[in-house]
Amino acid sequence: MSHLKICALIIMSTALLWGCSAKPDRELTAAQEQAVAERIAPAGHVVKAGQVVAAVATSSALRAGVDIYNRNCVACHSSGVGGAPISGDIAAWASRLEKGIETVYANAINGINAMPARGTCMDCSDDEVIAAIDYILDNSK
Ligand code: HEC
Repeated sequence: MSHLKICALIIMSTALLWGCSAKPDRELTAAQEQAVAERIAPAGHVVKAGQVVAAVATSSALRAGVDIYNRNCVACHSSGVGGAPISGDIAAWASRLEKGIETVYANAINGINAMPARGTCMDCSDDEVIAAIDYILDNSK
């Protein structure tokens, strides 16, 4: 084989490999696909298609208290922004709990003063907000 032919072969196979591995612009990443699936998943988690089952299963696994805390609550509750009781501050949470845990749950779900409703997790169910609160409380006693 001539030198030129080998060169041409290398260039062609490189182009072929690149062509196979390059993604078209419109293709979504796995993360984007999941975000879309979550956004269009019907309320109440009615399952319609196999793909949605997987997305719902993943999303409910992700929605543990710790994950919601890390996504929605940590900004205020690790630093005390606006007077937020700090996660881990045993005394602060003990005095909050004096009004009864149901009231504390309700205040977080409905919002109170500088505490936004659901702590900004607008797609959280009540139980998910409560799971995030329980996570904070577990770390504050
Ligand atoms: C924008 C800041 C901010 C975010 C985000 C935020 N909080 Fe708060 N949170 C506050 C502030 C400020 C208070 C104190 C409100 C008050 O009593 O005046 C508070 C209070 C609370 C209380 C105590 C309520 C009571 O009755 O004493 C709970 C529980 C709580 N937050 C849970 C959460 C959870 C769970 C999240 C995330 C899902 C969250 N917060 C996100 C600012 C925030």
